[in-house]
Amino acid sequence: MAVFYITTAISYVNGAPHVGHAYELVLTDVIARFRRLMGDTVYFLTGTDEHGQKVQQAARARGVAPQQFVDEVSAQFRAMGPRLFISNDDFIRTTEERHRKVVGELLQRLFDKGEIYKGEYRGFYSTRQEQFLLDKDRSPDGSWPEIYGEVSQIVEPNYFFRLRAYQGWLVEFLARNEAFVFPKFRQKQVTEFLKEPLNDLCISRPKERLEWGIPLPFDPNFVTYVWFDALVNYYSAVAAVPGVWPASWHVIGKDILVPPHAVYWPIMLRAAGIELPRGVLAHGWWLTGGSKMSKSLGNTLDPFDLADEFGADALRYFFIREMNVGQDGEFSRELFLGRYNSDLANDLGNLVNRVLNMTTRFSAGAVPPAGKEGDAEDELRRLWEGTGRLYVSLFEQFQFHTGLERLLAFVRSINGYVEKRAPWRLNKSGEPADRALLATSLAVMAEALRLVAVALRPVMPGTAERIGGVLGYRPAGTWLDELAWGGRLEGAKVAPALVLFPKPPPAAAKAP
Ligand code: MSP
Repeated sequence: MAVFYITTAISYVNGAPHVGHAYELVLTDVIARFRRLMGDTVYFLTGTDEHGQKVQQAARARGVAPQQFVDEVSAQFRAMGPRLFISNDDFIRTTEERHRKVVGELLQRLFDKGEIYKGEYRGFYSTRQEQFLLDKDRSPDGSWPEIYGEVSQIVEPNYFFRLRAYQGWLVEFLARNEAFVFPKFRQKQVTEFLKEPLNDLCISRPKERLEWGIPLPFDPNFVTYVWFDALVNYYSAVAAVPGVWPASWHVIGKDILVPPHAVYWPIMLRAAGIELPRGVLAHGWWLTGGSKMSKSLGNTLDPFDLADEFGADALRYFFIREMNVGQDGEFSRELFLGRYNSDLANDLGNLVNRVLNMTTRFSAGAVPPAGKEGDAEDELRRLWEGTGRLYVSLFEQFQFHTGLERLLAFVRSINGYVEKRAPWRLNKSGEPADRALLATSLAVMAEALRLVAVALRPVMPGTAERIGGVLGYRPAGTWLDELAWGGRLEGAKVAPALVLFPKPPPAAAKAP
């Protein structure tokens, strides 16, 4: 069976990871875990993008050698993995030899095939910012903004990749593969972009201007343009692992879809005769106060702080419940606390405690066998049958936020069921019918909670395991088997209590 190969973008290492990077990692992890639970063999790659002007400048500003600088920052990105329960199989750095080697081979192959040629690059260059400028960088009056300092027109020899020759092919490819980009409306943006003629892509930078890059194998006076280097990571990481390529999904942010992932990358692969990925998933941005959360705006939140304060699973839950994949979402402490308190501490946390507490008090800590079901039990079971099926199919379509919305509605229905049956009242009765109903209600509550925990596995792996643990639950079948309502806890010994989401969270009073 084909491997389900999924990747994240590799982050630039010119600054510390923020919530935007953490989201992408968590989203990709949810998909990876979900596919594993569905029985796929998964290969999950993430990593860091370590060459280029910005990194060279950031290292210089700190007064350290680029390699030392990237080692430090890359380690911070790598540390997000274990902290956020990320189940990646591999972590690639573009400064690694396995990557540099494949980039060199690919460039040579394209050069030998005549897909790369030497030409002249003309443009406006800012010496202060050490970058070429585009017309869009001009002030409304046509002048260059102060931040660029002196801007001069320069002509420089460089190497170009024949992008334009493949434009017609790409247009056709996208017409034949309508679901190449998720969500669909973003594929339309790609086709719109392709209505204008493409320019060939300048894929080199003269060494005297930029040293920190991979040298062109056919001309050591130049290094490779950073996108031509970075995109190749998806392929270089698995070039030596048989059966993994092509990728099933590249998960990226919407800002790097057009042109890098939807134009450069497919054309690079096509020109090199390498199979194309099956799809590109472009998620939206986390905003703060309506603007993109980004290093340059200085409005970022630290995912490590949030995980320390609320727990990694609470952060994962917020990301996945709040964001409609493909759209933007607002990230604020208030919104975070709102979800934490209502969904996690109140709805889920209370349910867990009720099940444990009542099973301990009314049934000596062991889940009793269920007796005859009444209407309320029947209703809850039917609700689950619909919810469970829908949940899986929503996950298959990347509609995770709706899946979680339905699951939490089910949690609230379990709480409603408990209110209705009121086991504490049944426990006071000596009537045999009430005793039987007490046992049934305890069994049904525990079973329903077990199903919630199983369903949460891709999103909140730690929480799912802890709930399973206190319920004395040992999964035996496939995920889909375990998602079926089935009295699997009969006789299980439960723990007396578990505080999953302390309320208020320890540092909730802290100023934002
Ligand atoms: N290095 C390139 C990607 C190369 S992939 C071959 C890059 N790096 S980045 O550090 O700027 O961004 C890494 C990923 O984080 C991108 O997919 C980007 O969209 C995502 N995010 C960065 N800020 C974000 C938000 N505020 N919200 C959500 N994701 C965002 O681009």
